[in-house]
Amino acid sequence: MRKLIVGNWKMNGSLLSNADLLRALRTGLPAEPAADVAVCVPFPYLAQVQGACAGGPIAWGAQDVSAHEAGAYTGEVSASMLRDFGCRYVIVGHSERRQYHGETDDVVARKAQRALAAGITPIVCVGETQAQRDQGDTEFIVKRQLAAVIHVVGHCVSEIVVAYEPVWAIGTGRTATPEQAQAVHAVLRAQLRAAVPNERRVRILYGGSMNAGNAAALLAQPDIDGGLIGGASLKADEFLRIIAAAD
Ligand code: 13P
Repeated sequence: MRKLIVGNWKMNGSLLSNADLLRALRTGLPAEPAADVAVCVPFPYLAQVQGACAGGPIAWGAQDVSAHEAGAYTGEVSASMLRDFGCRYVIVGHSERRQYHGETDDVVARKAQRALAAGITPIVCVGETQAQRDQGDTEFIVKRQLAAVIHVVGHCVSEIVVAYEPVWAIGTGRTATPEQAQAVHAVLRAQLRAAVPNERRVRILYGGSMNAGNAAALLAQPDIDGGLIGGASLKADEFLRIIAAAD
């Protein structure tokens, strides 16, 4: 399966710095990159990224989407609006949204459903906290989070991307070892296999302090189909080296 490398810019960037970063990515990327590549940017910059990346090898997307279709939901952004800006992907259920915005498994599942209905691929994030890992609950937590999405979207789960992001590895510099990550990816793969016949289409990304130094070992694992990269996606040379490591 072709790997997928996604940059999650989180709440970073400016018109000026984005232009520099996108220019460096466009010039540094081979015409046919070793992996599929995308950047998920803050809403206000979608038009800029669309303008800079249309027709090239870099796809783009958003970091959240409303669980509602349209209407009186002040501050929300709908999936059809993301479609208007050419988004191919949207991240849903990132741990920062679960943690700081109280997003439940059900809300995350309904967001994934909205994205799918608009023809956008949801990148569904799952992952345990350090305390949950210490209690031996990792498997239970990630399966529960993915099960909620399978329950709501049914057979369309074959159209999603899953991202395993252990919360304790996000922004901490503490990457999961390739073995730790692979063990969880294998659990998620088995869960998908039980849910849909064509589960091999579903890519399972790893996220959490992935960088140019550790990417190759993580991406070499049999069930790691790509990466969701935060901090290292803001530096063009680092992000390009991660993409090259996906070969
Ligand atoms: P870092 O790569 O900065 O640890 O962030 C990972 C992440 O949360 C990507 O969604």
